[in-house]
Amino acid sequence: MDIVVGVTGGIAAYKSVQLVRLLTKAGHDVTVVPTEDALRFVGLPTWEAISRHPVTTSVHEDVARVRHVALGQAADLVIVAPATANTIARMAAGIADDLLGTTLLATTAPVVIAPAMHTEMWQHPATRANITTLHGRGVRILGPGEGELAGGDSGPGRMLEPEEIVAAVLAPRDLEGLRVIVSAGGTREPIDPVRFIGNRSSGRQGAALALAAAERGADVVLVSCHIDGEVLQDAVRHPAVRIVPVGTAAELGAAMDAEAPRADVVVMAAAVADYRPAEVSEGKLTKEAGVLTRIDLVENADIVAGLAAGRPDGQTVVAFAAETPRDAEELLARARRKRERKGVDLLVVNEVGWDRGFEASENAAQIVGPGGEVIARASGAKREVADAVWDAVLSVR
Ligand code: CTP
Repeated sequence: MDIVVGVTGGIAAYKSVQLVRLLTKAGHDVTVVPTEDALRFVGLPTWEAISRHPVTTSVHEDVARVRHVALGQAADLVIVAPATANTIARMAAGIADDLLGTTLLATTAPVVIAPAMHTEMWQHPATRANITTLHGRGVRILGPGEGELAGGDSGPGRMLEPEEIVAAVLAPRDLEGLRVIVSAGGTREPIDPVRFIGNRSSGRQGAALALAAAERGADVVLVSCHIDGEVLQDAVRHPAVRIVPVGTAAELGAAMDAEAPRADVVVMAAAVADYRPAEVSEGKLTKEAGVLTRIDLVENADIVAGLAAGRPDGQTVVAFAAETPRDAEELLARARRKRERKGVDLLVVNEVGWDRGFEASENAAQIVGPGGEVIARASGAKREVADAVWDAVLSVR
């Protein structure tokens, strides 16, 4: 492919050196188009050496070959990484006073941006509106991730790692033609209008599964229980992902029952409450009305077991289990029993604890297959675990 990598003026520009390297190593022809500001972070000779092409920021060079539009016209893909808040605003407004601006207006190729900025700038209403505008035009927004930012701050705003960007833009389309449903996040069982019984699931793994499937070509329904706001807003911006929001286990069950008959693959990554309050108070419970020291619970239906039992021919069903075992053997033994009890094809088991598994962007998982064998182990970013799950699904279909 002919790929244009636009680099704009943020400290993450240094990471794009590796991005360009990975893309050229994968056999692509990369032209780097930095902004003037970007060159304050990484100099022109570096971009020329790494891409093996001349590099300029100006629309006034190479005029004979109408470079300001030719680059965009010839590109099969344009990646802007890092995309600063300023560049995102300029893209939204269609400003074209440098070579990157004209290239972006002249191209009909897919455009992918990897934002990088401080959390406050990312969350500012102006940036939110610009992102929505770009998203509406079909621009793919990768990340940002969470983590340490320049100056020691931490939060959403960090540019995705070059490997993650490459995995996203060059993903194999091996799930093309498949309809998949992924449930994600934690259910909330109301006690009264203001209180609920919930759990610590952030929805990150489920969102990563949905996004990975979409990038690999599947049509995706994401049945979303409570998911951390940023995870839902920013991780799942893909035209192939349809989001169905639900709250309680009963709502989740109804949504899954409605969607599942048309699906080729069902992945239950949601953390479902096993029990719900037997009675939900119409009004807010108050101490004046009487001290509350116990809540009677009734059991929720096992959704995934029901789906697996009633599944159409050829459908693959995947369940998740978060366990806090004493040792590795016990972890696997529990996983095997759970897979059989639920009647699912694959069970993805990960170890959790007070300080492991939840909310983190890293995860470690083992995938137990139809014969009880461990067919894959994956650890690292939730995206890597997601890809391992889809690989395992393909291996048993
Ligand atoms: N699950 C479900 N319906 C429920 C509870 C869980 O579909 N009412 C699904 C989860 O989405 C997950 C899998 O079942 O894919 C395993 O969840 P887990 O809570 O570990 O299973 P339990 O049967 O509740 O087992 P345990 O007693 O170990 O909690």
